[in-house]
Amino acid sequence: MSKSILILPGDGIGPEIVAEAVKVLASLRDNYGLDIDLDEALVGGAAIDATGGPLPDATLDLAKEADALLLGAVGGPKWEALDISIRPEKGLLGLRSSLNLFANLRPAILYPQLADASSLKADIVAGLDIMIVRELTGGIYFGHPRGIRELDSGERQGFNTLVYSESEIDRIARVAFDIAKKRGKRVCSVDKANVLECTELWREVVSRIGEEHPDVELSHMYVDNAAMQLVKWPKQFDVMVTTNMFGDILSDCAAMLTGSIGMLPSASLDEQGKGMYEPIHGSAPDIAGKGTANPLATILSVAMMLRYSLDEPAMADRIERAVDKVLDDGLRTPDIMSDEMTEVGCEAMGDAIVAAID
Ligand code: IPM
Ligand code: MG
Repeated sequence: MSKSILILPGDGIGPEIVAEAVKVLASLRDNYGLDIDLDEALVGGAAIDATGGPLPDATLDLAKEADALLLGAVGGPKWEALDISIRPEKGLLGLRSSLNLFANLRPAILYPQLADASSLKADIVAGLDIMIVRELTGGIYFGHPRGIRELDSGERQGFNTLVYSESEIDRIARVAFDIAKKRGKRVCSVDKANVLECTELWREVVSRIGEEHPDVELSHMYVDNAAMQLVKWPKQFDVMVTTNMFGDILSDCAAMLTGSIGMLPSASLDEQGKGMYEPIHGSAPDIAGKGTANPLATILSVAMMLRYSLDEPAMADRIERAVDKVLDDGLRTPDIMSDEMTEVGCEAMGDAIVAAID
């Protein structure tokens, strides 16, 4: 039976990079027998402009029916003045929570061809391969109470709540251990257990799951130290598992180790393996419409989709091989450009990937 994929281009460079990823999907469908149906819907600022809200019911209905989702990016200056409750980002957060996409996988892999693009010395990042497992539907992003209230003194006070139940910690920890088993067999759990009770519980539950996995080496690290270690000696990490907000911050940091945030895909999965796939970079309004965005993170997100939600690992391999080949051939978008390489735009990069698929 054919699998249905919902395409959510979003805002900024979203439509440009998603168009290239769709070309890749269409090529796999037309030339290699990938059995898929593609549908498209509005989310984020694009949805606000068309319907008044960042996550229209029509989009959510299609999202619930789809086997997998491909999202570009949401947000931009145009919508920044809106109330936080109806901003483009709420569309993304609404999809994550409505679809129960609690497990966010963010690989940070250094392509050897791009070693020069990293801001760290080549020997520190050569061979880097970290998987950040970020809890995505809980923690301070979703905790209640939240808001801005007025105190008796008349002063305003902002407040959010960091909250994790044992079951939420349990399930994300299991995801991390399962992934570690298929790679370097090490999990580092990142918390702030020296200060926050919530993450004291986090540490306790992760340790308990760790005891069920004696073949995986578990360590714990405070988040401030983890940020430092990521830039000091990132290769000490295999799988990192952490809360929603710590994961947000550490994954940007890890991404930059690889030279370009424009290269990194992500998967957000529910308990059944249904997923939303998106590049980890944002909507980059400064370069939107210029045709210079790097579509590789989105194209690599398609590879993750094929592997994690559509059970098509051989198709995923085809995409990843094509990316490797195009980088070997010296093609570079401006964000990863270096001496003696050939600079190309978004569309030319997408075309080159399609041509390189074997
Ligand atoms: C991310 C982004 C989002 C987040 C924003 C756009 C809401 O930064 O996916 O990392 O904070 O989760
Ligand atoms: Mg982020």
